Amino acid sequence: DVIHEIEGLGKKERRLADFLGLQKVCIVPGDADLDPLVKKALGHAAADYVRSILRAGDILAVTGGTTVATLAEQMPKTQLGIEVAPARGGIGENMEFQANTIASRLAAQLGGTYRLLHAPDLMSDEALQSFISEPHVQETLQRIRRARMVVHGIGQAIPMARRRNLPEAKIDQLAGQGAIAEAFGYYFDRSGNIVHAMNTVGLRLSDLKHIERIVAVAGGKSKAEAISAVAHGCPINVLVTDEAVADAILENR
Ligand code: F6P
Repeated sequence: DVIHEIEGLGKKERRLADFLGLQKVCIVPGDADLDPLVKKALGHAAADYVRSILRAGDILAVTGGTTVATLAEQMPKTQLGIEVAPARGGIGENMEFQANTIASRLAAQLGGTYRLLHAPDLMSDEALQSFISEPHVQETLQRIRRARMVVHGIGQAIPMARRRNLPEAKIDQLAGQGAIAEAFGYYFDRSGNIVHAMNTVGLRLSDLKHIERIVAVAGGKSKAEAISAVAHGCPINVLVTDEAVADAILENR
């Protein structure tokens, strides 16, 4: 019955949180790889959590990707009075899944303002440095680093590298380095070591330790290993995932 199922999920949430060393895990039933409604439920659960924590005046930073986009879609309209910003600029997503787009969408739903980072995808170090030194970019970066909460997606390394059209040689190199996960523009191996970092602006991994609450949203059994790896490599506090991921991680302990 339903109550039983909910209790069962509650237990799994605690077991997974203990195993990955997280403060909190929310699990929705099902497998997002198999059913688009599960991804919707993930977005909904994550939206509820985010809304329960945010207070007027907070800064929320978000990454791109289809899962975080679903969270924005599922966010009910309220008047929280917050500021939303993209966590990182220019990491090669289609417009509708870009962090900028999601930030503006969330700001509209949450009754807030937004900032954008219009960083092109491939910049030389020189161009990147001069971009970062622009006063309005500096100001935006300072706001982003002052975020109280970050919400981010997690992907599998090689599929993400392909989605970003990285050259085949780079993809081979990543595979050779054992890259299995991607988050925030960083590629991680199984143990959570960074094997490659994209050259772009915004939050660096080292900024995350200053942020009060880091919320990862990712589901679908195919992401189970990637999610474990990122849980080792990033200081995540909260994970919103699905039961297929939870079962796969707990079975492979
Ligand atoms: O490109 C932004 C990003 O958040 C990546 O860091 C992550 O790997 C990916 O999107 C997740 O995308 P999706 O939710 O579509 O699987």
